[in-house]
Amino acid sequence: MPGPRLAPMLLCLLSVWKMLMLAANHPQVSRCQLKQRTALCNNGKLGSVPAGLPDNIEELQLNCNHIQAIQEGSLSYPSLRILSLACNHLQKLQLTTFQDTKLLESLNLANNNFHVDSHETGDALKTLPRLKVLDLSENELDEDTAATLLHNLTSLEYLNLSGNFLQRLDETSFRDLHQLKELDLQRNIIFEIDGAFNSNHKLQRLNLAFNYLPCLYDFHMTQLVVLNASHNFIEWFISRPDLNDTFQLETFDLSNNRLLFFPFLPNRSHLRNLYLSHNNLRFYEHMAGDATGMNSTTTVEFYNIKYTDNITAQLWDESLHGDISSLEILDLRGNQVGYFPQGFIQKMPTLQRLQMSGNCLETLHVTTEQLSGSLYELDMSNNRLNQIVADEGTIHALSNLTYLNLSFNELEGVPSGFFSSLPNLRSVDLSYNNIDICFPEEAEIMTDGLAACVDWKNILSLRQLYLKGCNLEITPLSAFAGLSLTHLELSDNPGLIVQESIQSLSRTLQHLGLGNTHIQDFDFSHFTSLRYLNISRNSIARLPHSLLNLGLEVLDLRDNRLTTIPSEHAKALAVKLHTIFLTGNPFNCCQTEWLKAFERVNVVGLSEIECQDLFQMARRLEHFQSFLCWKEDGESIFWFILLFVPICLSFVGISIIVLLSFKPKMLQKSIKKKCLKPTSY
Ligand SMILES: *[C@@H]1O[C@H](CO)[C@@H](O)[C@H](O)[C@H]1NC(C)=O
Ligand SMILES: *[C@@H]1O[C@H](CO)[C@@H](O)[C@H](O)[C@H]1NC(C)=O
Ligand SMILES: *[C@@H]1O[C@H](CO)[C@@H](O)[C@H](O)[C@H]1NC(C)=O
Ligand SMILES: *[C@@H]1O[C@H](CO)[C@@H](O)[C@H](O)[C@H]1NC(C)=O
Ligand SMILES: *[C@@H]1O[C@H](CO)[C@@H](O)[C@H](O)[C@H]1NC(C)=O
Ligand SMILES: *[C@@H]1O[C@H](CO)[C@@H](O)[C@H](O)[C@H]1NC(C)=O
Ligand SMILES: *[C@@H]1O[C@H](CO)[C@@H](O)[C@H](O)[C@H]1NC(C)=O
Ligand SMILES: *[C@@H]1O[C@H](CO)[C@@H](O)[C@H](O)[C@H]1NC(C)=O
Ligand SMILES: *[C@@H]1O[C@H](CO)[C@@H](O)[C@H](O)[C@H]1NC(C)=O
Ligand SMILES: *[C@@H]1O[C@H](CO)[C@@H](O)[C@H](O)[C@H]1NC(C)=O
Repeated sequence: MPGPRLAPMLLCLLSVWKMLMLAANHPQVSRCQLKQRTALCNNGKLGSVPAGLPDNIEELQLNCNHIQAIQEGSLSYPSLRILSLACNHLQKLQLTTFQDTKLLESLNLANNNFHVDSHETGDALKTLPRLKVLDLSENELDEDTAATLLHNLTSLEYLNLSGNFLQRLDETSFRDLHQLKELDLQRNIIFEIDGAFNSNHKLQRLNLAFNYLPCLYDFHMTQLVVLNASHNFIEWFISRPDLNDTFQLETFDLSNNRLLFFPFLPNRSHLRNLYLSHNNLRFYEHMAGDATGMNSTTTVEFYNIKYTDNITAQLWDESLHGDISSLEILDLRGNQVGYFPQGFIQKMPTLQRLQMSGNCLETLHVTTEQLSGSLYELDMSNNRLNQIVADEGTIHALSNLTYLNLSFNELEGVPSGFFSSLPNLRSVDLSYNNIDICFPEEAEIMTDGLAACVDWKNILSLRQLYLKGCNLEITPLSAFAGLSLTHLELSDNPGLIVQESIQSLSRTLQHLGLGNTHIQDFDFSHFTSLRYLNISRNSIARLPHSLLNLGLEVLDLRDNRLTTIPSEHAKALAVKLHTIFLTGNPFNCCQTEWLKAFERVNVVGLSEIECQDLFQMARRLEHFQSFLCWKEDGESIFWFILLFVPICLSFVGISIIVLLSFKPKMLQKSIKKKCLKPTSY
């Protein structure tokens, strides 16, 4: 009976047919990945919004496709709340685009071409009553097209306009955005802002980085919490002086500008993080007296054409820094600071991190008056420090100090007992100063005042000590006594003798730098905790045997005289090693079995490692063909041919010549026989 059998088969065919039809109608569904209520269709080559997605999706991501227009009705997902269309070729949205997606809250239109038709798109955006998040970055918008797009978007809370062509902002720019909390205006060409944020009373985060602003004055956005104005051309920052309100500002970035003066901050604020690195800032307290004597001006006036009040800033008066009493981080790296005005540091009783690298400080006053007891990190590297002045108050002044960087200065010593008076010190960098380590007698003699050497005996908290390039030679036996260092950096001290003095650290030391110290036979066998070792630039000809059982993880052997590493040594090293530096050694191209042992190790600059072949020619180790080497097992036919064949040939040649010259008659005879023999025709 064919009937009953045929029915299921037909059904089966039908469903297959249906599936095929579905696939034909919606070929792009397959390019999307569904994750709960999110459809991810990024980086496909979609030319339009795919149809056939579940009706209830809440998020649709279509980033980086080839979409040029959104067809009417193609966004019929009534639950959609998040739509991302970044990095497509869209030029406009139509009035009807969002007719079925009234719940949309977040719309990403970054990296499209919405500058082309901002009017229709603006009208489309207005149809979204719940829109909170809008990304319009990188759309070649100028202030007019941007304003058109943003009209009446009263519900917007987050707006990204970075990477556009905005130049001037005024009160019309963001007039209707009453709910705006965060605004990103990075990387435009803004050179003027005139009352642009007067209607945005809820704005908390504003990013103006990488623009062309020449100054910021009359700053009165009391509700702002984060202001980023880094990478502009700002010479002046002046907040409105007659405001009694407390500013909410907590983080303020003015780094990479052209400030000459410390910014004139609000009188009352909660400012915690102040970034002023890479300006031309310094303090002018010493000018205050002089300036009146000379005819130089003592005030700067800022005339505001639009408003009637002019702003006058009193120069040289260091009481005008505003409220810095809540500061925790002060970053002044790369400025011109030569000193701190009287009482400046005292104004910051909660300062934790003071970054002064790259200034012109000559003296470090470690007194309660000059440094705050809350200080946790002090970076004074790259200045011109030649003395440190301490007093009985030092312990209180720096009782919390953990990190102290004094590298790249001109110090020759520190007050004796200076480091031991800092109870929480963990990390000290004294590199590139001209210091000596105190011998026991010396330390005792220098009871007060400046010592011409440094000592850090018995500082239990100290873990990291950096003494690169200090011209150290002989270190006293007791140099590191009573310390539990994990890091010791002694590189760039040519001629250093430390073998004995660092034995006391053998159990704790994990990181040891001995590059460019001319050490030769150092016994590392007791340093069982060592994980990092730098012995580069030391003319080492043989891998020290004492390294093999240490469990090193990083080893720098660059610029030595190694010609090979015995295979079994390489294998022993490779067990724990994950990074090794080997460039700059005169390796022998024909003794490179060790390279195999380092198969799983990160050999830094492998392609640059060179070796010398049989003719002392430099070759790239990685590409060297081993058949060019002599080998004991006789595998190398190349050399066999190259050397034995000429020898044989010359042997044969010589024998012939010898034979012929000793028996010239034979020659004559044979020639005669063969050639002169009368031939009969
Ligand atoms: C914005 O909304 C107001 C009031 O709802 C209306 O009068 C005005 O025309 C709208 N502006 C634009 C550009 O649509
Ligand atoms: C704004 O957009 C740019 C470029 O698309 C992006 O790098 C930046 O992180 C965005 N800003 C925020 C606050 O998300
Ligand atoms: C300010 O913006 C720049 C550029 O985006 C960024 O590198 C910097 O980290 C920001 N500053 C702060 C304090 O977030
Ligand atoms: C802000 O501080 C400056 C300088 O101390 C002072 O002249 C000004 O009156 C203060 N303003 C207010 C509102 O307290
Ligand atoms: C600021 O407060 C002072 C006194 O506390 C008052 O005399 C002055 O009028 C206030 N200024 C403003 C702008 O409110
Ligand atoms: C200051 O200015 C007055 C007149 O303007 C002039 O006579 C005097 O020499 C000037 N003083 C200095 C130190 O330049
Ligand atoms: C601001 O300065 C200009 C130029 O000196 C002056 O004409 C104007 O009267 C000043 N305005 C006020 C309010 O002081
Ligand atoms: C040192 O740090 C502790 C813990 O962070 C803090 O409680 C204390 O107030 C700090 N000391 C000073 C002098 O600020
Ligand atoms: C100390 O500062 C120098 C220069 O700014 C820097 O290179 C070095 O890494 C710093 N040292 C430590 C231990 O952070
Ligand atoms: C090892 O020390 C040398 C000499 O100071 C230095 O040039 C090199 O960068 C150091 N190696 C590493 C991995 O830091």
